[in-house]
Amino acid sequence: MARIVAGIGSSHVPAIGAAIDNGKTEEPYWKRIFSGFEKSQAWMRETKPDVAIVVYNDHASAFSVEMIPTFALGCAAEFPPADEGWGPRPVPVVEGHPALASHIAQSVILDEFDLTICNKMEVDHGMTVPMNLLFGKVAKNSHWPCPVIPLAVNVVMYPPPTGHRCYMLGKAIRKAVESYPEDLKVVIFGTGGLSHQISGPRAGLINSKWDKSFLDNLSKAPQKLAKIPHVDYMREAGAEGIEMVMWLIMRGALDDKVDEVYRFYTVPASNTAVGHIILENRKRGGKAARKGKPATAKHKRAAARVKPAQVRGR
Ligand SMILES: [Fe+2]
Repeated sequence: MARIVAGIGSSHVPAIGAAIDNGKTEEPYWKRIFSGFEKSQAWMRETKPDVAIVVYNDHASAFSVEMIPTFALGCAAEFPPADEGWGPRPVPVVEGHPALASHIAQSVILDEFDLTICNKMEVDHGMTVPMNLLFGKVAKNSHWPCPVIPLAVNVVMYPPPTGHRCYMLGKAIRKAVESYPEDLKVVIFGTGGLSHQISGPRAGLINSKWDKSFLDNLSKAPQKLAKIPHVDYMREAGAEGIEMVMWLIMRGALDDKVDEVYRFYTVPASNTAVGHIILENRKRGGKAARKGKPATAKHKRAAARVKPAQVRGR
């Protein structure tokens, strides 16, 4: 049986991708950000997922404003990097997992979530930047460490899906993965955010208090987040802060109670708050899980390896 072992939340700021592509990661401004992902990359190397599901939003790269699916699942064998105006990023073509993706599509649609199925799709920074942050820099003519299933969510044109809809879709994705017969270790990414506003009188808005509360509740009380209406995201986290609903798909795909094994927060990157969290599912039914402790020796090692709730920024 396939199983989701962990969820990863990560911002997908395009300037981070540009810093990687232009060799600026050691510059002080950017090193502050990349150093926050060093332990995450070590965690990913140890976790060695067989497949990653990456929930992200397309920024008018694969879909124009003429046609915007609310939820679009990538079922193709490969997804080339999109040209976002300055040429495609120098990253490998993302290799998909058509069999698992098709299985997810069937299960989730029969559970009454109406996905758009994409058999051809380019992917932009919304997906490739978080992959770089967690997998590290990968040469263009090489391969990402595992197959990836993209799930694009509309958060660019009103109305985006509600947080509750996203949270429940995560649960449906989990059910789908767990009904797939092959023994696969799956991780799921929720990307975007955190607070930011790109244009208008409030351009540059960052609300660290909101962001930290969101991360706290994501870990311990996600049902609270699922009730937040769009207008609250817009008011508190800026117009583009609505991207944070995508993290709720990731969270919905995990256990109700999870172990937060790592957190990183810093401001700003470009004009955006950078948030990152790693949540692991507990071993079901274990004594340690019932007591709220790390469930396995592996969890204990992970908890010792990284400082829980490491928070930077204001
Ligand atoms: Fe974005």
